Amino acid sequence: EPKATLITRTPIITVMGHVDHGKTSLLDYIRKTRVAKGEAGGITQHIGAYTVDYNGSTLTFLDTPGHAIFTEMRARGADVTDIVVLVVAANDGIMPQTREAIAHSKAAGKTIIVAINKCDLPAADPVKTKSGLMEEGLVPTDFGGDVECVEVSALTGAGIDDLLGLLVLQSEVLELQANPKANCRASIIEARVEPGTGSSATAIVESGTIRVGMPFICGPYAGKVRALVNDHGERVKKVGPGMPVEITGFSETPNVGDELVEMENERAAKKLGEERQEELRKQRLAQPRK
Ligand code: GTP
Ligand code: NA
Ligand code: MG
Repeated sequence: EPKATLITRTPIITVMGHVDHGKTSLLDYIRKTRVAKGEAGGITQHIGAYTVDYNGSTLTFLDTPGHAIFTEMRARGADVTDIVVLVVAANDGIMPQTREAIAHSKAAGKTIIVAINKCDLPAADPVKTKSGLMEEGLVPTDFGGDVECVEVSALTGAGIDDLLGLLVLQSEVLELQANPKANCRASIIEARVEPGTGSSATAIVESGTIRVGMPFICGPYAGKVRALVNDHGERVKKVGPGMPVEITGFSETPNVGDELVEMENERAAKKLGEERQEELRKQRLAQPRK
C-alpha cells in the first residue's frame, strides 16, 4: 500500500485494573468533561467505546470490563489496544487483578501508563503504591524507570488533564498510522440482539473505512452494513481507522473478538461464510465425544 495514503490514527486506550479501583469512574469523568456540549452524549445509548478530544487530539477509550475483553481479543488475535491505562487505587495499592492486568499488558507488549487513583482519600499513599509497582517490575519515572505514573482522582478530577496529556504524548511516540483506503477490518468489542433491528455490534475500525452498504464477513457469517452510528449517537455513512462504531446488518450475532472484514461483493462474502460454517461443522464432528 502506498505510503502517501497513510494517516495518523487515533490511539485506542484500554483501562484496566483491580475491581473497584475506579476504572469506570475515571472514564465517566473524562467523558463528562471532554465530550463536546450539544452532542447526544450524556445520555448516549449503550456503546462500549467512545472518543474524546484533548487539545486537538482524539483519543479512543474502551469502556469495558477490561480484562475479559482484552484477554478474549488477544486469544483471537484481534488485539486493538495501543495503550493500557492501569488504574491502581492509592488507598489499596497492588491487588490480584492489578497483577493480572500487568501480566496481560506485558505479554501483549503494551505500553502501560499508571493512573494512581483515589488520591483525594486521606488513606491514599501514592509513594507506597509506586513501590508496589516497582515490585511488579514497573519502575516509575521518578524512581528512575520509564513507567509514567499520574496521581489522579476520578472524584475531583485532579490530575486527569495530566493523564490525558501523557496519553496524547505516548500516542505520538507510537506513531500510529493507518490507511483509510485499505481493505476494511474492524474488531467486534460488544454484540447484542436488539428487538426489532436484529443484531448490532460495537466495533473498532482497525484499518480502512467502514461504509454503509459494505459487504463483509464476520466470523462465519456474511453481512452487509445496514447502518452506522458513531460514539456520539449520530447516524453516519462511514467511519475511519481507530474509531468506534455501532454496526447493524449482521445475519447472526457476532462474537466479541470476531474480526469483520470487507469483502468485494455479497456473493464472495456469502461463499466465504458458507466455507467457514462448513469448516466449523467439520471441527465439531471431529471433536471426541465425552
Ligand atoms: P469494577 O468495574 O467493578 O471493577 O470497578 P471500577 O474499577 O470500575 O470502579 P468504579 O469506578 O466502579 O469505582 C468503585 C468505587 O470507588 C465507587 O464507589 C466510586 O465512587 C469510588 N471511586 C472511584 N474513583 C474514586 C476516587 O478517585 N476517589 C474516591 N474517593 N472514590 C472513588
Ligand atoms: Na465497581
Ligand atoms: Mg467498572
